[in-house]
Amino acid sequence: MALTPRTERMIDRAVELLNSNNNHEALRLFDLVIAESDLQGLEYGKATALARLGNIDEAVITLKKLLRLIPNHPKAQLFLVELLASERSIQLAEKNYARRSKEENRQSQWLPSNLYPDDVFLVSYPKSGNTWVRFLLANLLKKEDEEIDFFSVHQHIPEVGSHEQIINSLTRPRIMKSHAPFIREYTKVIYLVRDGRDVYVSYYYHRLKQLPKRFDFFSFLQRRDHYPCRWGEHVASWTMSKDCSNLLVVKFEDLKSDCFKQMDRILKFLNVNRPKHRIEKAIEASSFENMKRIESEKGRLYKKEGPEVFMRKGITGDWKNYYGTKEKDYYKSFEGQLLIKLKYEKDNNW
Ligand code: A3P
Repeated sequence: MALTPRTERMIDRAVELLNSNNNHEALRLFDLVIAESDLQGLEYGKATALARLGNIDEAVITLKKLLRLIPNHPKAQLFLVELLASERSIQLAEKNYARRSKEENRQSQWLPSNLYPDDVFLVSYPKSGNTWVRFLLANLLKKEDEEIDFFSVHQHIPEVGSHEQIINSLTRPRIMKSHAPFIREYTKVIYLVRDGRDVYVSYYYHRLKQLPKRFDFFSFLQRRDHYPCRWGEHVASWTMSKDCSNLLVVKFEDLKSDCFKQMDRILKFLNVNRPKHRIEKAIEASSFENMKRIESEKGRLYKKEGPEVFMRKGITGDWKNYYGTKEKDYYKSFEGQLLIKLKYEKDNNW
């Protein structure tokens, strides 16, 4: 079928809009041309715009329609697989972890030797700011004259699987740190979440010493052996789960913008009362600058494979310095949807 000059111009414009990430307009134009012509291939452009706007369901429907018409469309097949993978990984994460037995959880060292009904778990994916929250809490739980540092913090909030002895000596209600993906046995949980794009940057530097020389960030992002799983799987398993009745979700970014408000939420959740000045003092004692000073003056529990500097930057949005087009596309194909669900982005148009 010969294209009219008008249709040709509209297609060129739609592609141009798509290339400049103006997805709303691109979508409108693709819809218009599709309605006016029989050009089946345009569904691909429409699906791209839809996916970037975060409308995965519609994008999938559009691609399926295209593949019914052109079954061997190679880009459409690949695109469909990517979209389904990102959506499915969220659903799988919710289901898989909820299904694990207590024995499996015990074996993977996610459970202390005994559990009490009032146990609290401070859970996060690695590099989400867990140590910061532990400092904040320890500074509120400690004796007046004690300075919390990278050793004493473990005495107040030990880690499941690493500090069994300390855990057994804690007075109740105990607060323990954990990196476990969803686990049914944790009945009271503070789940700390941080923008996954920043998390991978932080994790990259955390692991740098263990990685082969000149291992670049993109290669790290693509690794399939992130501990204990990918960020999205972990975060989805907790935040999308309907199985944890007593869950408080706290964002790293909210701690950065209003630490007092978040500490107030956390303390209410823990049923702990502290006067305003104590909370402010704890925030000050756990500031990035102060923790950095403590790290350099007193050191921390260095493991050989650990990073040179733990207190690296402590900022939000550092990812922008590391994500070019390929890193963004890769990230979106796995975890773009979750960023939208968690309101880090309003669509995939970033
Ligand atoms: P960056 O590598 O981006 O600097 P975790 O304790 O879960 O391993 O998280 C470590 C990350 O939290 C590091 O991020 C670290 O700098 C940051 N962090 C630790 N204490 C902080 C604080 N007081 N304020 C802001 N960020 C902090």
